[in-house]
Amino acid sequence: MVKPYLFVTRKLPEEIIRPFRRHFDIQMWPYEEKPINRETLEKEARRADAILTMLSDQVDRSLLGQAENLKIIANLAVGYDNIDLSAARDRGITVSNTPDVLTETTADLTFALLMATARRIVEADSFIKKGQWNNWAPFLMAGTDVHHKTLGIVGMGRIGEAVARRARGFSMDVLYHNRTRHLQAEESLGVQYAEFEFLLEQADYVVCLAPLTEETKHMFGEKAFSRMKKSAFFINASRGKNVDEQALYQALIREEIAGAGLDVFEDEPIDSSHPLLTLQQVTCLPHIGSATIETRKRMIELCLENIALVLSGKKAKTFVI
Ligand code: DGY
Repeated sequence: MVKPYLFVTRKLPEEIIRPFRRHFDIQMWPYEEKPINRETLEKEARRADAILTMLSDQVDRSLLGQAENLKIIANLAVGYDNIDLSAARDRGITVSNTPDVLTETTADLTFALLMATARRIVEADSFIKKGQWNNWAPFLMAGTDVHHKTLGIVGMGRIGEAVARRARGFSMDVLYHNRTRHLQAEESLGVQYAEFEFLLEQADYVVCLAPLTEETKHMFGEKAFSRMKKSAFFINASRGKNVDEQALYQALIREEIAGAGLDVFEDEPIDSSHPLLTLQQVTCLPHIGSATIETRKRMIELCLENIALVLSGKKAKTFVI
């Protein structure tokens, strides 16, 4: 019997893939760090019953228009803004993502980024490594307290809640803004709902965890940054396009806000000449929110399970549509 054809758009560890080779004919793009080119993606999408995609792959209407056999796109991310959902829906293709398995890992990174930015961890590390530590001084690398401050979470999904749980351990007050209220989180975590503007005005740390949609695109622009306290920090661990980076840069150099921690950027990978990289009060990471070995493994396995379910006529465990 001919096995269904699964194409994986990045080289993934063979030991995770191997058990699934019994059920599928699996081919992978041969590089781990180099993204697939458009021509190959189109060619493979035309042939595949399933594709396992990365958040950096643009799965648009023109690609899906050629995907005659495709039944599922399993995206290796909780976000799915790289996929044209309406085109997938029109063709009856399932789109799945990887929620839950990455929640705690991404919350860890978000909180680490907040801490690193507030306490100047990266800057202090490079200060020593560059041989600049000649004397101890009372205000050497003095940062800003995190404990007992106000955290403002924009986008209170699973990761937002996990960040709020961490904040409780630091005796922080937590405000959140979300499309819908989370009464259960309010009750169990003691977090408080706030209008977007109010949250910006009150928070010492504004953390963006909102998914990228037409409504959230550039929600952090000139107006938003001008509402924040001069002493406040902005942390983004969601999608870069939620932020107008020009406006963020201006807010930072005009000292309208104190600093920023960014795991994501408008155009990834960010160019090394990007102005944000010149600012010492900005901590930058290469989109590693869910990047631990354990979690990546769980994410890949979940994608493969979803593919197996859909190709055997069942519903995916974690489908978007
Ligand atoms: C996701 O899963 O959407 C994250 O951005 C990956 O780190």
